[in-house]
Amino acid sequence: MEIQIQKLRQAAEDAIKSATTNLKELDDVRVKFLGKKGELTTLLRGMSQLTAEDRPRIGKIVNEARTQIEKLIAEKNAELKEKELQNKIASEKIDVTLPGRKIHRGHLHPLTLTLNRVKDIFIQMGYTVEEGPEVETDYYNFEALNLPKDHPARDTQDSFYITEEILLRTQTSPVQARTMEGHEPNTPIRMIAPGRVYRRDDYDASHSPMFTQVEGLVIDKGISFADLKGTLELFLKQMFGSSAKIRLRPSFFPFTEPSTEVDVSCVMCHGEGCKVCKGSGWLEILGAGMVHPQVLEMSGYDPSKVSGFAFGLGVERIAMLSYGIDDLRLFYDNDVRFLNQFN
Ligand code: DAH
Repeated sequence: MEIQIQKLRQAAEDAIKSATTNLKELDDVRVKFLGKKGELTTLLRGMSQLTAEDRPRIGKIVNEARTQIEKLIAEKNAELKEKELQNKIASEKIDVTLPGRKIHRGHLHPLTLTLNRVKDIFIQMGYTVEEGPEVETDYYNFEALNLPKDHPARDTQDSFYITEEILLRTQTSPVQARTMEGHEPNTPIRMIAPGRVYRRDDYDASHSPMFTQVEGLVIDKGISFADLKGTLELFLKQMFGSSAKIRLRPSFFPFTEPSTEVDVSCVMCHGEGCKVCKGSGWLEILGAGMVHPQVLEMSGYDPSKVSGFAFGLGVERIAMLSYGIDDLRLFYDNDVRFLNQFN
């Protein structure tokens, strides 16, 4: 029996030594030897068969073996616990020296950037920024601008009608009449009105059924064509650089008299002639004119007391020229490869 105990003790020690992976493995060893049905426990039960003489001696050896095994298990238990703790710490460790994750912030759209520049220039000149509805009445979109129902110039601005009297505005010019009506008659106005406009147009590199305009209106005593020219020249020089030149060509708009088309020297070739200006050296940039007396009158202003000028420009066209963009659709397609260039 002594030999049996020795062997058991050795087996237990070996098993404890090789229990290196986890606490569960060690516990299995404990159950195997010291548990209720464990090998050492079974051995102890067999002691009743020993002679009275052998019992104390064998008992001592068994107890020693038991104490030794328990001690080894306790030691190993502590060792494995420490190891598991270290593993846990290692797996949860945060490397504070790692670079942070990049947060993708949004940014302004190129049309907004361009519009903001236009606004800044006019705000510096003392203009207010007005707004009008995109769903507009026939009266403000056409009639109040001297375009009665049968006027042929309506054909150039085919719109999206909601009813016979309500449409998506084809221009920002209706804000002229709305602004005048919002003022005491004959009080001075110096405003711009940016916003979206809609026309039944194709969708191609230079057309879109929806685009952006900025309207301008100045009314005061003694406003002349020279004020119009000076203001627009200053604006275009600020927008395209001080070397920009302007050219006025006679034109027609029902709501201005006289009317003019304003050209700027080509921003690409500076007047030499290139593909963008089709060899002419000039770019058509906006329409303008002296506010028609009829328009002033319809909105309650007295053309014998005050006069004014108005202008309208396309924001997409200015953005295309400033950034060298050759396809209008890029503004609306929302392709981030395009948009991210304006970050
Ligand atoms: N509303 C015109 C258009 O969309 C642009 C325009 C021309 C506006 C002359 C004006 C102006 O105020 O005076 O074609």
